[in-house]
Amino acid sequence: MRGGLKSVHSRWSNHFAYVLAATGAAVGLGNIWKFPYIMGEHGGGAFVLVYLLCIAVIGIPVMMAEVSIGKCGRQSPAYAVKKLAEQSDASWGWRSIGWMGLVTGYLILSFYAVIAGWALAYVFYGISGEFINDRESISSLFSNLNRSPLPLLGWSSVIILTTVIVVGNGLKHGLERAVVYIMPAMFLLLVIMAIYAARNGDFSQTLSFMFSPNFSSLTVNGVVVALGHAFFTLSLASGVMMMYGAYLPEETSITQTSLWIAAADTLVAIIAGLAIYPIVFAQGMAPGQGPGLIFVTLPLSFAQMPFGGFFGTLFFIMLVFAAFTSAIALIEASVAYLIERATFKRWPAAAISGFGIWILSLGTVMSFTGFEVTNFKFAVFGEQIEASFFQMIDYLTANLLMPIGGVLIALFVGWAVKPSLLKQEFQRDMLIYPLWRFLLRYLSPVAILLVFLTLIGVINV
Ligand code: PHE
Repeated sequence: MRGGLKSVHSRWSNHFAYVLAATGAAVGLGNIWKFPYIMGEHGGGAFVLVYLLCIAVIGIPVMMAEVSIGKCGRQSPAYAVKKLAEQSDASWGWRSIGWMGLVTGYLILSFYAVIAGWALAYVFYGISGEFINDRESISSLFSNLNRSPLPLLGWSSVIILTTVIVVGNGLKHGLERAVVYIMPAMFLLLVIMAIYAARNGDFSQTLSFMFSPNFSSLTVNGVVVALGHAFFTLSLASGVMMMYGAYLPEETSITQTSLWIAAADTLVAIIAGLAIYPIVFAQGMAPGQGPGLIFVTLPLSFAQMPFGGFFGTLFFIMLVFAAFTSAIALIEASVAYLIERATFKRWPAAAISGFGIWILSLGTVMSFTGFEVTNFKFAVFGEQIEASFFQMIDYLTANLLMPIGGVLIALFVGWAVKPSLLKQEFQRDMLIYPLWRFLLRYLSPVAILLVFLTLIGVINV
């Protein structure tokens, strides 16, 4: 019966195509933009260690759970979960996990596309020689970009349109073809950047910053951030891994591919740190700069370095590549849903889904460009809160939907799904299976729950 269900979807050509696509989904702004700056904010080496631990004992097991759901269900997330629940005589209610994933991915893309739009704008700044200007004009690039909605809207629209075109072309001709070219190019650019940084920047300070753990600088908040980021960087609880798992060739090992994907994602994050910090340190700048690290600090540093304009441009091309392979993953579940349920063809499905993203992205564009209409004031438990549309979507996805989704996925696969269904997937990895199940049943739900309660302020640290 399993895998025998007639699916309207195709499959990846081979394991390699899947690993590239899923690594492309995982590697993104999170690795190159977010990881270096949160590492900087939380004290370097000790944070890196905790992050690695979170990836290994929570991130990888949850990823394997999601891919298993997709592979057994062979449909878009909600229906894949529903099928597995039916086969396990579990409640239909579990399918809400799939819906949550789909909605999370959709919401994430609405702001992800705008940040990718920033990166795209910087490629053009680089090409037009802005990075070799004086300090004043470089510092004002970012504020100018966010001064009025139109330019930012233009850049993010290009990202969304390109995403729609690639996904509209189908699994093999669109997504697969894109990742086969983009991922190796991205990796090559990253290595070039790291070599450039090592030769021209302060590499030894970077090594001691990143790899000599100083546990006194690690806070409980740092641990929470590390686990939250492990989820974000592996693209968990966002419908992506379930959807990509649904396209997995029958004989592909979920364990091995998940290990590869997590390893590649981590490697990229570490190399990104090695590519950015030597340049930041060389100019005597501080690592805890926050989100502006790569859009403000980095261009300023490049301007002082040999061939900085050229390498600065390469850096942002790499960033756009990395973001783009995540964007196509983020939209895919909604497109697959429209194809399978509303019997749309792929092109209209991609266009409709893309249009919805575009509309939502306007909220983030407005938030970045300071429009009053996107600032909301409300009271939670008597506390006055003021947040922009972007901040609300970011909070909703990162602090609520992803952790709740993560706990539910772990509970569903760990407790509700019949072990016999899962064991078939792990026939060749029988040694791993008990360890995986143990982590999924006990460690993952408890750890994610603790982090969730801390994030929303129920546990005070
Ligand atoms: N993993 C991506 C990154 O690190 C972000 C992402 C989250 C992509 C969820 C898809 C789904 O940038």
